[in-house]
Amino acid sequence: MKILAVETSCDETAASIVELRGQKEKTRLKILINLVSSQIKIHQQFGGVVPEVAARAHIEQMPLVLSQAISRAKLRFSNIDLISVTNGPGLVTSLLVGVETAKSLSYLLAKPLIGVNHLRGHIYAALVNYFLGKEKLVNKKIFPAVALIVSGGHTELFLMKDWYSFKKLGQTLDDAAGEYFDKTAKLLNLGYPGGPVISRRAVRADKNNVLTGLLPRPMLQSQNFDFSFSGLKTAVLYFLNNKKNKPFIKNKSFVNNFCQEIQQAAIDVLVAKAIRATQVFGAHSVILAGGVAANKELRQQLAAGINDLAARINFFVPPIEFCTDNALMIALAGYFKWQKIPQKQKLPDWQRLEIDPNQEV
Ligand code: KG4
Ligand code: ZN
Repeated sequence: MKILAVETSCDETAASIVELRGQKEKTRLKILINLVSSQIKIHQQFGGVVPEVAARAHIEQMPLVLSQAISRAKLRFSNIDLISVTNGPGLVTSLLVGVETAKSLSYLLAKPLIGVNHLRGHIYAALVNYFLGKEKLVNKKIFPAVALIVSGGHTELFLMKDWYSFKKLGQTLDDAAGEYFDKTAKLLNLGYPGGPVISRRAVRADKNNVLTGLLPRPMLQSQNFDFSFSGLKTAVLYFLNNKKNKPFIKNKSFVNNFCQEIQQAAIDVLVAKAIRATQVFGAHSVILAGGVAANKELRQQLAAGINDLAARINFFVPPIEFCTDNALMIALAGYFKWQKIPQKQKLPDWQRLEIDPNQEV
């Protein structure tokens, strides 16, 4: 079936059209078009996303992105079988633009509409290469799987017993990992978004001068699967506020190493908890997803941790372009949710779709 997906939960206006067939591990994907109009340049001047500004930009961009998607996929709206849209979690004003657009399309075209969870989308995005037939399984059994979502708004660990179920094992008690990178980058005057710039600076760190241990590893030893990143952010703030440290901060090479330690402090905890969950639940697969999954060190260190385990374990991570927000992942989440809806309810019912900014997975 051909799915048109729309995503506007935060600051990316995205539309995608894909063709999907098969079920479960036999799912096969063809990407017809995937467009993302990023608002990063607009929000950079404010050092973070301003919800009201984001919603206005979505309203401006949405018609352009949609018409481009249809024309570049060489399709007509009538060729679409299902419309899938993010209806939570996210910024209320941003979500409204995507959901109202999708409702209007559903009404005008008399096509069925499905609302999906943004975080489920991130998780399915990790399987893009597998669905495209580009990735082989290390272990034929995919489930149970441990899924770690690390984004700007969420850091959550899930246990999936099949393609459709998500049991939350733990989550951040305060800031998300991406938020921690964004806020510490702001403290260091490195710009927005923080994750990419911190990782770029970390690459340039002097390997002979590592600052290991300068920052804490919050909750590393706790036996649960929760995380905490706000204390880490405060530790960075205290370091910067200490007059004795001023000369260091002016030194570019020191800042590179400091970024490396900021990054490594989060990675150490994320990897340790994901690996422990894998062992505790005997998982056959580990899924890493969300914007922070674009971090090369996190990808490599988690892959290495999985490799060190005795069992054969699949490691799924999205191609870099599908780590941050996009609509392709919303098409995938819509497809999987659609399969679980009873046939009788597969109708165009735009009236029933509501947004839920705090929607749980
Ligand atoms: O998933 P996403 O696009 O939006 C949310 O749903 O939140 O994630 C955005 C987050 C930002 O916090 C950004 O700093 C972070 O992902 N990010 C990275 C990298 N690229 C984006 N964090 C670390 N390393 C990266 N390379
Ligand atoms: Zn996201």
